[in-house]
Amino acid sequence: MNRIQIGADADAAGRLAAGVVERALRERPAAVLALPTGATPRPLYRELVRRHREQGLSFAAAAVFGLDEYWPLAPEHPQSFRRFLRAELLDHVDLAAARFHMLDGGAAAGALERVCAAYEAALAAAGGIDTLLLGIGLNGHLGFNEPGAPRRGRTRVVELAELTRARAAADFGGEEVPRHGLTMGLGTILEARRIVVLATGAGKADIVALALAAAPDEALPASLLREHAAVEWILDRAAAARIER
Ligand code: PGA
Repeated sequence: MNRIQIGADADAAGRLAAGVVERALRERPAAVLALPTGATPRPLYRELVRRHREQGLSFAAAAVFGLDEYWPLAPEHPQSFRRFLRAELLDHVDLAAARFHMLDGGAAAGALERVCAAYEAALAAAGGIDTLLLGIGLNGHLGFNEPGAPRRGRTRVVELAELTRARAAADFGGEEVPRHGLTMGLGTILEARRIVVLATGAGKADIVALALAAAPDEALPASLLREHAAVEWILDRAAAARIER
């Protein structure tokens, strides 16, 4: 089932999403979380850091897996998703460094298969994902699963859509955006026990409405979420504006 929660603006949506993470951690302090990067989750991470500092919300027993990463890209590159997650959230909370798992954008081409298989093995060893948060791309991608990605796909190297690279161009400021990414597959994502999709801003209104109305199809990866038993869409009013009711 897909539930929808709507906050007034991006900050309110971030607080709603932070509430989901907080409940997951209070229910099970050793929760396994999968977390995204991008502009959308910034208010969520700000709020989680605030709750950690002011209300004692603890990540000490949790595990965090990053959803995706550019490849090839050095882990210390300013645009790496590893760096983003550390700077926005993990450097400011009490998660043990050993419990932060990230796909290695610096891996050699010949090592990718092993890196991706090891990621899946680490997920399985952790007991699978309790709560997975993610955004939605303007083309309906989930993580770096671009349109046409297989619904049972596992963690692997993928080619990025031109739209994805074009949107990232400003962040890379003139440097070439990587042509590939490493991403949890749709099969990996859909095995999470609970999924939260976060989308804010008028630019996402059309793709959110489409994903919630179209028949589930690999051509629109986000539409496949409708086949999952526990998905919550957390939107702001602008992103929710075109949903058919
Ligand atoms: P955004 O990215 O949060 O930067 O819009 C979301 C996504 O492409 O998955």
